Amino acid sequence: RVRVAVLISGTGSNMAALIEAGRAPDAPFEVVLVLSNKDEAGGLAIASAAGVATVAIDHRPFGKDREAHERAVDEALRASGVEVVALAGYMRLLTPWLVGQWAGRMLNIHPSLLPKYPGLDTHARAIEARDAEAGCTVHLVTEGVDEGPALAQAAVPIVAGDTPESLAQRVLTAEHNLYPQALADFCRKLH
Ligand code: GAR
Repeated sequence: RVRVAVLISGTGSNMAALIEAGRAPDAPFEVVLVLSNKDEAGGLAIASAAGVATVAIDHRPFGKDREAHERAVDEALRASGVEVVALAGYMRLLTPWLVGQWAGRMLNIHPSLLPKYPGLDTHARAIEARDAEAGCTVHLVTEGVDEGPALAQAAVPIVAGDTPESLAQRVLTAEHNLYPQALADFCRKLH
């Protein structure tokens, strides 16, 4: 099975979905490490409880030296024999250096139908634009933020009275289905 690390900054609900999917008898991957840039991330406790190795590498002590933080992250990934990195609510902009280290082997999930709404506040922007639907995209990570080639997408309707919060919840449920499937498809083609 392909050894996957999941990078998080917060709740880790996508991370939990990936851990669970990686435990199916026929899963082509397994989550061997959960790494957070914040030691207070709720997802770390969930991963520990699930028996997955965790590491927190706080970015704050590194100040403006993004690459120094990333070198520490990269070292932890390699020490665990990680082959594929799945970003799941990892709220750090990556430097070209880290992207280069994992080119073709780093995936991200983004809460919009890319190329619409890269960046933040995707749900508020979709509602504001009166879009009929919103969704999520799993894509390969490249240097441009939220710009890498899409691997999979799922759409959900935007309904009357939706708030950014209600829409986020609907999209998140779709994310929990899409990400494990997209990662499994990706890993089946790797070897
Ligand atoms: C998810 O909706 C994910 O798509 C989004 O953060 C949330 C994390 O939730 N990611 C981004 O906005 C990346 N820029 P989770 O921690 O419960 O998986």
